[in-house]
Amino acid sequence: MNNNMNILITGATGQDGSNMVDYLLSSTEYNIYGSYRRLSVSNHTNLEHIPNKRFKLVNLDISDQQSIINTVKKIKPDYIINFAAQSFVADSWNIPIQTFTTNTLSVIYFLEAIREYIPKCRFYSAGSSEEFGNIDYFPQDIKHPLKPRSIYGASKCAAKHIVKVYRDSYNLYAIHCVLFNHEGLRRGKEFVTRKITTNIARIKYELENNKEVKPFELGNIYSKRDWSDSEDFVRAVWKMLNQETPQEYILSSNETHSVKDFVDLSCKYANLEIKWEIDDKEPLNTKLYCNDKVILQINKEYYRPAEVDLLIGDSTETRKILDWEPRYSFEDLVKRMVENDIKLYKNEMK
Ligand code: GDD
Repeated sequence: MNNNMNILITGATGQDGSNMVDYLLSSTEYNIYGSYRRLSVSNHTNLEHIPNKRFKLVNLDISDQQSIINTVKKIKPDYIINFAAQSFVADSWNIPIQTFTTNTLSVIYFLEAIREYIPKCRFYSAGSSEEFGNIDYFPQDIKHPLKPRSIYGASKCAAKHIVKVYRDSYNLYAIHCVLFNHEGLRRGKEFVTRKITTNIARIKYELENNKEVKPFELGNIYSKRDWSDSEDFVRAVWKMLNQETPQEYILSSNETHSVKDFVDLSCKYANLEIKWEIDDKEPLNTKLYCNDKVILQINKEYYRPAEVDLLIGDSTETRKILDWEPRYSFEDLVKRMVENDIKLYKNEMK
């Protein structure tokens, strides 16, 4: 094994980036560079546990082409794993131009820099099941047409085409893989799964300590997603980058569950006995109770102007080619997230 290989992981402070850093430090001898964008308040919580000589943080803004060129020339990476993005779908209606330009131009900047300075570098672009959007059939496989319902989804479709153009035109090892939803202990708290588990942890504490219970709010609890664990996905992404020839893949759990299912299971693992008061005619009146107290209500603010109602992937082909299987089931994922957030909240309250 060549120990002098350099790997650049963008978005290293986020869930997937930091999981990839951990995975590659434990499974390779390579030098890992994690890029972050400087903020006045640091957000390095997911990296604080890494006192490793083989890991360095680099300040890189993926929306700045010069910053990408400088980093590429300095590090000369053998692999670039691009997890950085404006990844919050709901925000793509509020910041459409930033979402579209960041998620597409950065891909061109990286591919141009690779073509010019490091043509042997292998490049990974993070695609999304949001590309399928208004779905034609289920489960969705790699052949499903691209019918995005958000600017975020449209930006990922564009990124997919950009990667293909560079792969075909310049014979680069550049891949774009469709990832269905993937969550975990480091998930940002604005995404629905972590929003649920952090709030359930807080409410459990409030109930058990006779504090005032403040309900939390969700939007569409009937949308269905195909949820996996990010730690499983990063192993597969590394395998994709190490095949003989580049090709496109999808990663999914091949199961679908509603947001409401996620709430139910979270309450089960938190040992909360719950009762729904469902209003089919007026969903905004729907409420969830625990010990006669409202713990969850619906707020239209969290509905999206256009929703992807149902996502369920078929990653059978990818699993075969990569000889990869997930280690965590949907139940494992929810249990791990709930138990972790209960522990974190208790510690915070000490
Ligand atoms: N975030 C959020 N907050 N979502 C809510 C809420 C809420 O209060 N209430 C209901 N939802 C519903 C959303 O409408 C959506 O149908 C579902 O929960 C999941 O929302 P998110 O967790 O925000 O994820 P996402 O599916 O929009 O996007 C994630 O998965 C994509 C892959 O399909 C992100 O990780 C994307 O970056 C990723 O590409």
